[in-house]
Amino acid sequence: MSATILETSSITKYYGKTKALDGISLQLKKGQVLGILGPNGSGKTTFLSVILGVLRPYSGWYRWVDGDVNSAPASIGALLEKPCFLPGNRLQTQLYDMAILHKIPARHRAMRIKEVLTETGLEDVATKKFSALSLGMKQRAAIAMALLSRPDILILDEPTNGLDPQGIIDIRQLIRQLAATGKTVILASHILDEVEKVCTHAAFFKKGVLAGFESLVPESTEDNPVYRLLLEVPYTETGKLLECLGLNPNCVLLEKMPNGAVVDFEPSEGGPELLNKFLAENNIMLSGLTKVKSGIEQSFMKITGEQQQHGH
Ligand SMILES: Nc1ncnc2c1ncn2[C@@H]1O[C@H](COP(=O)(O)OP(=O)(O)OP(=O)(O)O)[C@@H](O)[C@H]1O
Ligand SMILES: [Mg+2]
Repeated sequence: MSATILETSSITKYYGKTKALDGISLQLKKGQVLGILGPNGSGKTTFLSVILGVLRPYSGWYRWVDGDVNSAPASIGALLEKPCFLPGNRLQTQLYDMAILHKIPARHRAMRIKEVLTETGLEDVATKKFSALSLGMKQRAAIAMALLSRPDILILDEPTNGLDPQGIIDIRQLIRQLAATGKTVILASHILDEVEKVCTHAAFFKKGVLAGFESLVPESTEDNPVYRLLLEVPYTETGKLLECLGLNPNCVLLEKMPNGAVVDFEPSEGGPELLNKFLAENNIMLSGLTKVKSGIEQSFMKITGEQQQHGH
């Protein structure tokens, strides 16, 4: 089991009489990428501000690994809502000032700034004034700023806001790379697709309440892969399918559907074709067999009760 990086317990936050957070309890482990999903006003930014130490919880507590209760971790980079730079400053200068603030030794500063500019695709505009950058470039600049101190933990509020399609792809890839190197990332988004593409776990916020928490990757290891599969049959065959799945010891039923089921399949060797073979031997012909990442879309719809907001 990997170490717990963040634990929050019953966090509540009010703005005047508005209850923005209502008892948020969750846990995050090293290397996980948590996506906080929820409609406008559901408390995502407020939650991130609390765990960053920017806002104090009204009640409840949070604790980062090795940290004290209700205090921000030492090694953290964050992007909260709108990027905020001095408009007249050149990007490079702003990053330089920030590097001093972060106590990056003088001999490393130039190199480190170059690295984050490359990582965020901003090399060509390094000498431009912040006010002259496009919205997407400003957003990238804010991410560059968050990366500057090479933090172990990154908190990103709507990181792809305002980016063009290529920018969205780049930033998502960057987040995945950071996670692959063992960094813990928490991001807020209202785009289901984004969370599905980037995150290992999703937390659903609804009116300040944690309405759901879901793993987006089956708990598989290299030796024992787990395949999450959508199995489809004509709806008259669904009963027979479910019965038959119950007979397969390597299969866990996750969700029944009118014309099929979602299962986690963990064969001792081989892949999903073995389940297909098993079902065929039991006279069940699948009309579809698809690898899926998770039932996140269904959960999102159930929890928010809203139309899905499509990403890019
Ligand atoms: N500074 C503030 N003063 C008063 N109320 C606030 C303030 N900030 C947020 N709120 C309220 O708290 C609730 C949660 O807001 P929050 O910004 O955390 O939601 P969000 O999920 O980040 O929304 P969005 O998707 O629009 O960014 C909302 O009802 C909002 O109106
Ligand atoms: Mg917000």
